Amino acid sequence: MKPEINPRKIVVLTGAGISAESGLSTFRDNGGLWCNYRVEDVATPEAWARDPEIVLRFYNERRAQARNVQPNAAHEAIARLEEKYEVAVVTQNVDNLHERAGSTNVIHLHGLLSEARSTADPSLIYERGLDDLNLGDLCEKGSQLRPNIVWFGEAVSNISIAAEEFPDAAKVLVIGTSLNVYPAAGLIQSARGRAEKILVTLDVDRPPYGFKWMRGKAATVVPTLVDQWLEQQPSA
Ligand code: OAD
Repeated sequence: MKPEINPRKIVVLTGAGISAESGLSTFRDNGGLWCNYRVEDVATPEAWARDPEIVLRFYNERRAQARNVQPNAAHEAIARLEEKYEVAVVTQNVDNLHERAGSTNVIHLHGLLSEARSTADPSLIYERGLDDLNLGDLCEKGSQLRPNIVWFGEAVSNISIAAEEFPDAAKVLVIGTSLNVYPAAGLIQSARGRAEKILVTLDVDRPPYGFKWMRGKAATVVPTLVDQWLEQQPSA
C-alpha cells in the first residue's frame, strides 16, 4: 500500500551540477571529468585491481579540488527548507557541501571523498578529511585503504533507504543531474503522480514524465524557488 503524502515532506535529489558553481567539475558536460578520463581507467573495481595508483591519483585530484570550495547559494537554500519542511537530501555527489550548508538529513548514494575504506573489510570506514590517499595507507588490519566511493559495477548500498524517502513526498526537487546513472536516476520513479516535481539543470534531452523543467544555474534558480516554497502554507 502506498503511504499518505506528507504535505511537509520534500525530497531533493542532487548531482554534480549543484556543486559546479562552487568550483567542482561535473562529469558529462562539455569539459566534464568523463571527457578527460575513461571511467574504465579510474572508477571501476577492475581499474583498481589493474592500477590502483592511477585510481588514487584521480581521487587525490578530486580531493585537491574539493579542499578550497564552499557551499553555494543552492546548497544554502536547500538547507533553509528545513525551517518549514521535513527534508531529505539524496545526493550522488561525493563532496560534503550539503552538510556544510546546514542540511541535516543527507543520504550519499555514491560515497564520500573524505572517507577511505579497507580493501579487506568493507565495514572498516575511516573519515580522513581531504588529505591524499596513497599506496601504503593501511587499515587497522594492515590492508590497503581505497576511496569510499561507489564505482561502476558496485552495489549502491544506500539505494533502499533513499527510495523510502520518495513515496510520501509532496515535493520532489531534482537538481544538477543528467539522470544518466542508475539506480540513482530510477529513484524518481518512486515519486507520486500528485507530487510537485521540478528539475533544475542547464540541459536535458527530455525532462522526466511529470517534471517541470526550470532551465538555469542552480545557484540562481534554487534560492528563488525555495523562497516561494517557504512562503507557501504546505497543504496536501
Ligand atoms: P553529470 O555530469 O552527468 O550531469 C550534470 C548535470 O548538471 C547536467 O544535466 C548539467 O546540465 C547540469 N548542470 C551543470 N552545471 C549546472 C549548474 N550550474 N546548475 C544547474 N545544473 C547544472 O553529473 P551527475 O548526473 O551527477 O558517479 O552524474 C551522476 C554520476 O555519474 C556521478 O555521481 C558520478 C558519475 O559517474 C560515480 O562516479 C559513481
